Amino acid sequence: MNKEQRNELLYQALETELGGVQIYTTAVSCAVNKDLKNEWEEYLEQTKNHVQVITTAIEAVGLFPNTETPGRTVVRHIGESLVKAMEMAKDAGNSESAQLVAAECVVLAETKDHMNWELIGEVAKKATGDDKKALQAAHEEVEDEEDEHLYHTSGWTRELWIDSLGMPAVLPPPEEEKDVKTAIGAARAKHARGSML
Ligand SMILES: [Fe+2]
Repeated sequence: MNKEQRNELLYQALETELGGVQIYTTAVSCAVNKDLKNEWEEYLEQTKNHVQVITTAIEAVGLFPNTETPGRTVVRHIGESLVKAMEMAKDAGNSESAQLVAAECVVLAETKDHMNWELIGEVAKKATGDDKKALQAAHEEVEDEEDEHLYHTSGWTRELWIDSLGMPAVLPPPEEEKDVKTAIGAARAKHARGSML
């Protein structure tokens, strides 16, 4: 295993979670739909916990959470840009449009977050000793929540867009109703939306 790149992954994962806290805080302020607002408030709390989980894992493998890397700086820049994008949409004055932008920003952020944790899961499989224990424990704690954050918000984004187009939407989305936690489940939920209208 390329240790340097493993470390890079862990630092980027921490930065993604830190950005996630800012992104959810802003997204909650853009939410119009009550169910969505509740959901994002819950995800915000979970993301705050993910910051703790990855920080603990980084320390457990003998690294320092404050270490800066060029890749981490890029992740921070993207996170700040997503917050800025939501603020732009909010300032434009249409609350439904701002909610849509927020949903898209959450999906973009969670796509990176989800991949980080998928990769941490792969690294944990190949790791040994105490490193393996620490990475596996971290992965196990957040895995299901990461699936939910990505798949459920993707469903919300699609249905809110459909609603905005003046077409019948399934709200809350099928991913929510079917408690989707896998990519296959998400595909099935999307396929079943026609029968849920
Ligand atoms: Fe997360």
